[in-house]
Amino acid sequence: MKPLGDVERISGIAFGFMASKALFAGLHLGVFDALAEGPQTLDELAARSGTDRDALQTLLTGLVSLDLVAKDGARYANTNEATLYLVSNSPNYYGDYLRMQIDQQMYPFMQHLPTVVEGKTEDIPYADYEAWMGDPEEARVFSESQHGGSLGPAAVLAKRIDMTGRERLLDVGGGTGAFSIMMAKRHPQVRATVLDFPNVAKLGESFVADEGLSERIAFLPGNALNVDWPGGQDAVLMSYLCSGVPGRAIPELMRRAFAALAPGGLLIVHDFMVDDDRSGPPLAALWALQHMVFTPRAASLTGARISAEMAKAGFADPQVANLIPGMTKVVTATKPAA
Ligand SMILES: C[S@@+](CC[C@H](N)C(=O)[O-])C[C@H]1O[C@@H](n2cnc3c(N)ncnc32)[C@H](O)[C@@H]1O
Repeated sequence: MKPLGDVERISGIAFGFMASKALFAGLHLGVFDALAEGPQTLDELAARSGTDRDALQTLLTGLVSLDLVAKDGARYANTNEATLYLVSNSPNYYGDYLRMQIDQQMYPFMQHLPTVVEGKTEDIPYADYEAWMGDPEEARVFSESQHGGSLGPAAVLAKRIDMTGRERLLDVGGGTGAFSIMMAKRHPQVRATVLDFPNVAKLGESFVADEGLSERIAFLPGNALNVDWPGGQDAVLMSYLCSGVPGRAIPELMRRAFAALAPGGLLIVHDFMVDDDRSGPPLAALWALQHMVFTPRAASLTGARISAEMAKAGFADPQVANLIPGMTKVVTATKPAA
């Protein structure tokens, strides 16, 4: 028993939001972009970012304590991680996703967590994704940042999945098409249909046009739980969809995927999933909490649960693998050949 160590650990959890806010403030104020141009003193950085010198020093001290910024004498610089992921012209940048979707949207939603767990949902801002994405500005902030956050994992998935002989891909709850874009880039025979709510689909069309892929990626606007899914698919992908619908709707998604696939077709489910014994990992466990504040009946998923739902719908040989370390898993299964 180490009482002081225990208290420090609990305080680290309790005050964790201060670290999140320091990171978000650094992104909002362009600190990492400014430091990408070279190490700078406090005065140089304050003049450049138009910030209050003393307040900036407090923020930088926080960022240095978190190893996001390094201090060498009087000069501040980005750490390697910040250079890779938090500087906006880096190919691995995902700061807009953190700054917009996580800080601007998810963070305030989380105040409703205790009442949602009590089963009271009257005060939550949106009852589900459909209501949330029905607001064009909310859909824009959410989807544009999601796109940036998904391109990296999508590139990993596209490399991992064997699409040999598979042409038609249905990307259900596919957002603005980040996964379809990466699949189409990696597998030249792939033609995709992305199903998502109308405000999201509209934004997706311009993302796809910017990639020069409008001939190969089409959008189907609607709610996946009541619009007809096009049949004859070689693969169906659901990335972050099962965590964003009530748990009781997952069997319906599986049935629809089975019906949409041709014999031999592949179902790919990518999502936040905890280990089967529900002991963690923490990021996957906490993401399920976060989803619950706008999808109150969403389930905390495991690979075993998704595999079982696939098997119930008729799929064969479900396989579970990790995708984003500590956060997401991919479950794949095939529709038996006729
Ligand atoms: C977290 S985003 C993921 C987007 C994309 N699949 C990705 O991985 O980048 C979840 C998406 O699912 C969509 N979605 C949630 N419920 C849906 C439903 N019932 N029908 C269609 N789309 C839905 C949302 O609009 C949102 O674009």
